[in-house]
Amino acid sequence: MNYLDRNEFNFEPSAKVVEAIKNFNPKDLCFYTRIYDEGKKSVISVRLSEIYGVPEERVLLGYGGEDILKNTVHYFLMNSPLKTILIPEFSWWYYNRIASECGGCYEMYPLHEKEDTFAYDVDEVIEYTNRIHPRMLLLASPNNPTGNSLTPDEIGKIMENIPSDTMVLIDEAYASFITTDTQYIAPLVDKFSNLIISRTLSKFYGLPGLRMGFGFIGKGHDQFISYINKYLGFNRFTEAVALAALDSDDHYRRVADEMEWDRQLFKKELGNLPGFKVYKSVANFILIKYPTRIKEALQKALKLEDCKIKFMSDKGLEDCLRITLGRKEQIQTVVDTILRVYNE
Ligand SMILES: Cc1ncc(COP(=O)(O)O)c(C=O)c1O
Repeated sequence: MNYLDRNEFNFEPSAKVVEAIKNFNPKDLCFYTRIYDEGKKSVISVRLSEIYGVPEERVLLGYGGEDILKNTVHYFLMNSPLKTILIPEFSWWYYNRIASECGGCYEMYPLHEKEDTFAYDVDEVIEYTNRIHPRMLLLASPNNPTGNSLTPDEIGKIMENIPSDTMVLIDEAYASFITTDTQYIAPLVDKFSNLIISRTLSKFYGLPGLRMGFGFIGKGHDQFISYINKYLGFNRFTEAVALAALDSDDHYRRVADEMEWDRQLFKKELGNLPGFKVYKSVANFILIKYPTRIKEALQKALKLEDCKIKFMSDKGLEDCLRITLGRKEQIQTVVDTILRVYNE
């Protein structure tokens, strides 16, 4: 099966990751990690602290980015009389779900369609946040499924101009696709105590099955850090593989660069067809508007080709497909199938 529906990784893991798995000593699982003797949570938080320049105490770890987001939203909404989270108009459905799981509610701020992309209006995000005064503001950069992102300056501008008791959670699950800069996070979380930035090994590092997410938080949240931490440590096998992945940027950057071929193919083959619009893609997925009259036939045809893609159902994006960027032959099959069904 070609899984192109959940922004997973259809390429090879790095040689270092494969080695780490082969060389893992099963006996390591017979003991808890001892790194807590040094007052640290994990070898991963130590490594992430070195890479990102954020003190280890303020590095968060979780069972995927999902877990960081969930724990953060639950904790901050439940410990406050304010129960609202403000999220982007089009975004990952899971944000609403975790807010509602803990009795919270959400409101949305708009995203604006501009030519072949969507954009945040930073002043508008600031205005909405001041007016609604939510407990949390969620920003996703790049956003799934629309791909829009924020620069460090824009993040700084938002942080400067919103209430300081609104916790800001930036979901950067796909950020490594758009930037190699790991140094802009530390100054932001050092300056703004109400900021949390969440990342993951599931997307750029291609390890969604490993379930490893990480994040960085501003100063003064010892109770939350204790809440999200695992007293007896993290999964030691995961730690070994994650260390190898974090040491394999060259491999994963090459893979990310290969995805440009997919983007060009979509643009060339579908970009000028009536009824289609290929949005600018900056991460490992692409959003494409399509003529919905072909929906059923396309679903059937893709099934016969063993291909899964995402037919969007979000309000306002019902006429869009989100396709994970994969290997050339997979993307060629998807494009050929769309063209065949369209021309039938
Ligand atoms: C926007 C966004 N954030 C976070 C995640 C979380 O991924 P994981 O829990 O695998 O780190 C996903 C997964 O698809 C996502 O699309």
